[in-house]
Formats: sequence, C-alpha cells, structure tokens
Amino acid sequence: MISRRRFVPGIMRAAIRLRSVLRRPRFVRGPRIEHPFDAPIVRVGDLTLRPHRLTAADAEAWFELQSNPDVVRYLPWKLRTREQSLQHLRDRTRHTRLWQAGDFLALAIEREGRMIGDVSAHLRTVSPDDRVVEVGWLISPDESGHGYATRAAETLIDYAFEVIRATRVIAVIHPRNARSRALAQRLGFVRMVSGGDLTEFVLTAAQRHELAAHPVEQIRHVA
Ligand SMILES: CC(C)(COP(=O)(O)OP(=O)(O)OC[C@H]1O[C@@H](n2cnc3c(N)ncnc32)[C@H](O)[C@@H]1OP(=O)(O)O)[C@@H](O)C(=O)NCCC(=O)NCCS
Repeated sequence: MISRRRFVPGIMRAAIRLRSVLRRPRFVRGPRIEHPFDAPIVRVGDLTLRPHRLTAADAEAWFELQSNPDVVRYLPWKLRTREQSLQHLRDRTRHTRLWQAGDFLALAIEREGRMIGDVSAHLRTVSPDDRVVEVGWLISPDESGHGYATRAAETLIDYAFEVIRATRVIAVIHPRNARSRALAQRLGFVRMVSGGDLTEFVLTAAQRHELAAHPVEQIRHVA
C-alpha cells in the first residue's frame, strides 16, 4: 500500500488546481457551451460512477491498472511507476468539468466500494448543431466479462446525449482492440473512419434512441 503521507493535503491540491488554471486560462480556449457541466455521481445497479479521488485505495487500484501491459496495450498511455501513476490520478481528479472544446471529464467506476475502472468524456466540439463528445472506457481485467464496462459506458453516453446535448458520441479504437470494438458495437456504435492505428466509431442521438428500445442485455451478442 502507498503511504498516506505521500498524498497531497487539500490546500496544496487547491494550489495545484489554481496553477493549472493559470497555465491555460479559459478565455483563450474558444467557445463554451451554455453552462459548465460538473462531474455527476451516478448509481447504476451495483456500480457507482463518481469523480476520481486521491485516496490510498484509489491510488493502489489505479496503479494496478497503469502497470498492467494488457490494460495499456491499446491506450495512448505508457506503463507507469507508482509515482507516475499517482501523478496521473491526481490529474484525473481535476478532470471534472465540461465547458469548452477540449475539456475532459473522467469518472471512476466503483463496485462494492472498490474502484474497478474508468469512463471518460472529452468535449470535442461545442456547437449545438454538431456537439461531439468522445468517450473512453477501461475496466480492470479482474472485473472484465460481466458487462460492467458496457453499463458504465452506456450511462456516460446517455449523460452525453441527454445532459450535455451531444449530437454525436464517438469512440476512437485501435483496430486490434477486439474487446473495445465489441463493446462499441454492443452499444450501437457504427464504424466510420479508419486511419493508421485508429478507427473512429460513431453513435448518433437517433441511433441511441433506436437502441434504447432494445436493452443492452438483449443485444449483447450482436458483436
Ligand atoms: C475494452 C474493455 C473495457 C472491454 O471490457 P469487457 O470486459 O469486454 O466489457 P464488459 O465489462 O462490458 O463485459 C462484456 C462481457 O460481459 C458480458 N455481459 C454479461 N452481462 C452483460 C450485460 N448485462 N451487458 C453487457 N454485457 C454483458 C458480455 O457478453 C461480454 O462477454 P464476453 O466477455 O464473452 O465477450 C476492456 O477490455 C479494457 O479495459 N481494456 C483495456 C483498456 C482499453 O483498451 N480501453 C479501450 C480503449 S479504446
């Protein structure tokens, strides 16, 4: 376990947050959506989606994921040491607001009091006519194969459509990432653009509504 003394006290966290805000002031970062959306806490069955926390338990769980080659294989992440993983988690605790293009929101997936994965939403464009949110998903290999990542992703996608008012939700997936492709297809994403190492999958609000008539449990073998 990581010593609790290594965690940053609240006042320092506030200072770090202030520093990051000062580094990239919002007024130079393009148009905003109507108002900011702060990270929700959502309960869906036995899963809770909530902002990341800088606790010993979350740091340990995050390090397990970040130091596992199978988890990072198709992610734009390197394998991280404990220190690097802790810094990465610290960054994630600050990704809690969507307001301007480029903003990123990350939620931990918690089950039975343990963090088992992560879903994220990246606000790509803000125009109400073409508001695009890119989503990402990640589940611990120990918890894989039970539909948890699908359920968490589905919840975030509904949030993107219904709350953020996205017109399209996209997912960018490595062609060899078969489990991620299967997950996207379970959720109704359609493969759009393939280029180099990545394939873009798209889900429109209309496709999502169409799918809502067919719960994920019933269509999970489509992929
Ligand atoms: C991509 C990733 C999240 C997929 O995880 P997963 O375990 O396949 O996804 P789920 O947790 O939704 O589980 C799906 C499985 O549960 C089954 N399942 C059971 N109940 C289910 C339900 N109610 N709903 C959906 N699926 C259900 C599915 O049929 C599927 O079974 P399978 O393993 O036989 O194919 C995971 O492989 C991962 O984290 N990879 C590393 C990180 C990564 O590459 N992320 C993607 C970047 S683009």
